[in-house]
Amino acid sequence: MNILIVFCHPEPQSFNGALKEVAKKHFLHKGHQVEVSDLYADGFDPTEHPRHFPIRADGEYFAPLTEQRNSYDQGNLPQQIHEEIEKLERADLVIFQFPLWWHAQPAMLKGWFDRVFVYGGIYSGSVRFDRGRFVGKKALCSVTTGAPEATFSPFGRSGDIIQLMWPIHCSLYYVGFDVLAPQITYGVQGGGLKYVTDENFRKHLENSKDDYANRLAHLAEESPIPFTGWDDWDENGELDVRHPARWRA
Ligand SMILES: Cc1cc2nc3c(=O)[nH]c(=O)nc-3n(C[C@H](O)[C@H](O)[C@H](O)COP(=O)(O)O)c2cc1C
Repeated sequence: MNILIVFCHPEPQSFNGALKEVAKKHFLHKGHQVEVSDLYADGFDPTEHPRHFPIRADGEYFAPLTEQRNSYDQGNLPQQIHEEIEKLERADLVIFQFPLWWHAQPAMLKGWFDRVFVYGGIYSGSVRFDRGRFVGKKALCSVTTGAPEATFSPFGRSGDIIQLMWPIHCSLYYVGFDVLAPQITYGVQGGGLKYVTDENFRKHLENSKDDYANRLAHLAEESPIPFTGWDDWDENGELDVRHPARWRA
């Protein structure tokens, strides 16, 4: 199996760095191939911008979707984007390792989605969701939070973690991935925001690494998060009124 880890943290020695290493070591030990896209180390540019498109479909007005499609069709995508797409093509499983920053993924990783999931190449009107380019591949988000787990419950002060993860999960499903339940490591406190004693914190980090390694050992047996698909939606893109999930309507 080929595994791609998209690692988004500016500090290799961070806990996110440690979790990236847990996954890398686990899969290498099992004889799999592992590639890492280390976005900060690679100097990934997360901003979609006219400077990435020296040969333009329209030189007067910069429409990102138009230029992405044109660049893909002409075979002149920026080298960095081309390489990321090739890594995705090789991967059976893609792991996104990142900290929760302002209730979402860091801007660097959001920009990776903006630029790497190229319109006209990775998705189009007819190639998305359960007819998406990456159907058959799995994706897993491994996320760390500063705040403790209870604060991410449906009425917690950090917001419901299911809702916070929706934009990234939906985006992964949009391009065809089977999305596995996220690995959330809560309460990775820092910068003076303390919720537990230093000793308990050290234990928490060690236990969290073990939990992740144990989960990875059985990942192949897991079913993905169920999403609705084209056969469930009407022409407006809503769940068909007869769909069983609309039992409340
Ligand atoms: C810019 C920034 C924004 C943050 N926003 C949140 C947040 O919205 N919710 C939260 O629980 N923690 C937040 N944190 C804390 C990080 O999630 C936490 O420091 C990180 O998960 C710890 O992992 P690390 O040691 O690998 O950096 C934020 C940290 C930074 C730097």
